Amino acid sequence: MNISILGAGRVGATLAKALADKGHAITLGHRDPQAGASRWQGPAVQHASLADAAAASAFVINALPGEAALQALKALEAALQGKVLLDVANATVRTADGMPGGLLYPDSSLAEQLQAALPQTRVVKALNTMLFTVMAAPHSLATPPTAFLSGNDAQAREQVKALLGELGWPAEWLLDLGPIESARATEAFILMVPRLIAARGFKPFALTVAG
Ligand SMILES: NC(=O)c1ccc[n+]([C@@H]2O[C@H](COP(=O)([O-])OP(=O)(O)OC[C@H]3O[C@@H](n4cnc5c(N)ncnc54)[C@H](OP(=O)(O)O)[C@@H]3O)[C@@H](O)[C@H]2O)c1
Repeated sequence: MNISILGAGRVGATLAKALADKGHAITLGHRDPQAGASRWQGPAVQHASLADAAAASAFVINALPGEAALQALKALEAALQGKVLLDVANATVRTADGMPGGLLYPDSSLAEQLQAALPQTRVVKALNTMLFTVMAAPHSLATPPTAFLSGNDAQAREQVKALLGELGWPAEWLLDLGPIESARATEAFILMVPRLIAARGFKPFALTVAG
């Protein structure tokens, strides 16, 4: 399938490599596609502007900084119409040392803001509750992680579940939370991340539900 990934940082590159290895045709969206292409180390993917990447595929992944995502994606509204948007971003207010200190959309979530701004796009939140290394390697942790899904369109959530399956996620590790409002709970987990890193060091982690 054609998949576009907007943002080529740690998350974008990890997902691009894993999905290209599974045989998907990946378009990576950059602010500067030439610079992005020259920096790229990995399997063959297309490099494009954010606008061209959004237009290139019916399945699009938002891996932009959460603080920039709403404005950047609203500008791509026409290109994203009728598509599934997998949103993995967390939108925070930063402390002076650059760490997440609060939620950018308290009493809401980035996913809800995106769904409201892009009414013709089916937004699904997932993979935002783990370090990027775990997204495409869920078996790398000693304890089974959970991947939560939030989104208003059940079919779009199923499409994301199928993609997570390709990334190595067993169905029983997926937790479908239903409507997009449920993303405000999973997005709030970002507030624990700097504390986790301070307490445990920079080691892979993921939120999981034991029971
Ligand atoms: N890192 C993690 O472990 C992790 C885990 C869960 C969720 N997330 C979320 O996933 C998203 C991406 O995280 P990341 O760690 O990959 O971030 P990152 O390494 O900072 O990469 C984000 C990419 O987005 C592009 N970008 C940066 N500023 C931008 C702007 N103002 N407008 C448009 N594009 C911009 C850049 O790509 P170009 O230079 O190519 O344009 C950059 O490489 C974030 O929202 C983060 O909260 C991260």
